[in-house]
Amino acid sequence: MSDSRTQSTVIAQGADAQPGSSSSDTWAARQRERVFYTWSAQNLATPLEIVGGNGARFETADGADWLDFGSMTWNANLGHGHPRMKAALVAAASRGLLAYPASVFPDKVRAGELLADVTPPGLGKSFICLSGAEANENAVKMARLVTGRHKVVARTRSYHGATLAMLSLSGDPRREAFEPGLPGVVRTVDPYCYRCPVGQSPRSCAHECADDLDAVLRREGPDSVAAVIMEGIVGANGVFVPPLGYWRKLRNICDRHGVLLIADEVLSGFGRTGRWFAVDHDGVTPDLLTMAKGLTGGYAPGGAVIVSDRIARHFDDHVLQCGLTAYAHPLTCAAIVETIATIRDDGLVERAAALGHCLATNLTELARTRPVIGEVRGIGMLWALELVAPGSREPLAPDAVTRIAAGLKRHHVHLHRRDNLLYIAPPLVATEGDLAEGLVRMGAALDEASTSVKP
Ligand SMILES: Cc1ncc(COP(=O)(O)O)c(C=O)c1O
Repeated sequence: MSDSRTQSTVIAQGADAQPGSSSSDTWAARQRERVFYTWSAQNLATPLEIVGGNGARFETADGADWLDFGSMTWNANLGHGHPRMKAALVAAASRGLLAYPASVFPDKVRAGELLADVTPPGLGKSFICLSGAEANENAVKMARLVTGRHKVVARTRSYHGATLAMLSLSGDPRREAFEPGLPGVVRTVDPYCYRCPVGQSPRSCAHECADDLDAVLRREGPDSVAAVIMEGIVGANGVFVPPLGYWRKLRNICDRHGVLLIADEVLSGFGRTGRWFAVDHDGVTPDLLTMAKGLTGGYAPGGAVIVSDRIARHFDDHVLQCGLTAYAHPLTCAAIVETIATIRDDGLVERAAALGHCLATNLTELARTRPVIGEVRGIGMLWALELVAPGSREPLAPDAVTRIAAGLKRHHVHLHRRDNLLYIAPPLVATEGDLAEGLVRMGAALDEASTSVKP
């Protein structure tokens, strides 16, 4: 994979920024010597030194006031500087509790009980780890252990984490540098309605992209397939919001073929889409559901897999061959408990749904006068703008996208950019004023770049 392709996945610390513009150069220079930047050629990374924040805003060492339209790495669902999260973690840290994987302590019990409460009915027992990739790794291992089969079906455009196995399961081009990867990965198509892989339009659609899964399972032989893994809503590869009924169809197909269904809700969970989980929009219970990011709001490392009672019972008398030193770490469990309590007490799921309507209106208005925006799509607090050559559906040229991204940075809007896509995923605590201001800043960045993107 070329450097430029790798670089295009990085936004806040991306190649678009002007190096040397921050008062934090000394720390940045020292850090560059000793700590790697991710997904970037090291000499191209231009980091931000964040010194504080509140809600949807953060401040950098040079005094700039940023709007966080990317929720850091899509995980800061509770926003910056949340007083409850700070207090809960201080309290947990001050207990100084060391734990080993079989330790019993109240926050671990509460975390398991709360996860069973907020996830779809029928899911009841959790494996608590440190990241989304680990959650998916363990979900796939469990599916293999339960079924004794090895293949896994995943989508063409998907991301399930950066470990070797999860990258090879991901359709994301970032997997290419590490191929050949995990054997037994089989692909099915995406619900990418703007460029429908099966030639339908929203009017004619009868979820033919889900039917492709049926064809894939028949072709592979369902007896060889352990699981199907799908993001609740595809996140980093394009924000593909499937039409209602799509997940129900997936559920039926998996049931018909006796194949386990894993919903990867690492990015789409914890209120991000206006429901606790994206599968809730369709009332579907997967067999395994994976979480991270919003699970702890970014205040501690955290990931989890929650499984159906049937899978949980399987491991009553079969060895669960999964584990990690920091399994259900006390700080992780404290963060999970406080995150869920805060989301509930502050009505953040409902808030994300309401703010989603506001974003829909305002982003559509932003696009109306800017033909470079080919499509606005999303739900709740998860949106993407697909940038095109005006008057066509041709992806906007990379240098033009880079100019827009540089403008966004100049206007202090932190958001993720990938290829010709800009992602808008603010914290669920953002105010309407934050959203309005962010869209003004985005409009300015688009307009400044517009002379170079007109046909
Ligand atoms: C859908 C999805 N799954 C898994 C992951 C991996 O999570 P982590 O980076 O915590 O390992 C991500 C990260 O972006 C993701 O978006």
